[in-house]
Amino acid sequence: MRLDRQGSSLVVRTPAKLNLFLDVLGKRPDGYHELETLMVSIGLFDTLRFEANDSGGLELSLAPASPGIPKEMLPLLPQDGRNLILKAAQLLRDVTGCQLGVKIHLSKMIPLQAGLGGGSSDAAAALVGLNVFWKLGLTSQELHPLAARLGSDVNFFLDSAPLAICRGRGEQIEPIRLGRPLHFVLVKPPVGLSTGEVFSRLKIDRPRGSESICRAIETGNVSLLGVDLHNSLEVPSTELSDEVARTLASLRRVSSVGQLMTGSGSSCFALCAHRGQAVQAARQLRTLSRGQVFVVQTAT
Ligand code: C5P
Repeated sequence: MRLDRQGSSLVVRTPAKLNLFLDVLGKRPDGYHELETLMVSIGLFDTLRFEANDSGGLELSLAPASPGIPKEMLPLLPQDGRNLILKAAQLLRDVTGCQLGVKIHLSKMIPLQAGLGGGSSDAAAALVGLNVFWKLGLTSQELHPLAARLGSDVNFFLDSAPLAICRGRGEQIEPIRLGRPLHFVLVKPPVGLSTGEVFSRLKIDRPRGSESICRAIETGNVSLLGVDLHNSLEVPSTELSDEVARTLASLRRVSSVGQLMTGSGSSCFALCAHRGQAVQAARQLRTLSRGQVFVVQTAT
């Protein structure tokens, strides 16, 4: 996440994520699932601009050039109090007693319902951005419980760790050192998937574990990392949507070191040995018209 002052405005750029593995360990009494997952920030960003609002209201508007959202997906992005950005703003006002208003302008590049954490990333950007813009002075330790109340992935984006193992609902973060940049080609099929619906179809299986994949990260062994990519949610997501299975099949046809669906889908990615391989794979995938294709690397 990057913060820039531009005149009286504050501009925050916040990334998408991929899950390099995701194990579901069990169902919890609160209805959520206990997870262990490895998340990595990637260079695909939403931008939030914060401006003063003398009316004292909380307002959100969407930039007309928001290529992350085709027209038919627009209803999935409410611009009222149901949006996580405005929920984050309201939560900050509730816990601090701050009465200030804000106009937030969102430029959306991260596709919706894609398993890329866009909504959570925007919520984290709202917490971090408004903490600065409203001069609230909250510490990272104070922001984390607020993040967890907003959604399971919001905590990951708060501290801008490029790579972290996330546990619990996803809100317990253990940052991991990333020795070298990782390169991906990412495909977002035209359909989106609801996280709740995917979890509701899941049959919990034995977790594959994190040991081997963490060793691959530590040693910078990309080939080994490619072999260890795994995601418990791939089965229920492919049951819900043929598009996910077709997207994974397309990714298996291009040259890469491993392929996976991210989060609860619907996006899938291939891990590539270097940027050149990702660019070449993207060129091939674009001819198949499977959806939006991005060449990305880990965000720093
Ligand atoms: O917390 P978040 O809004 O991201 O979760 C969306 C939905 O995904 C939840 O309502 C729940 O149904 C499901 N979920 C889950 N276990 C998790 C995270 C999400 O069951 N660890």
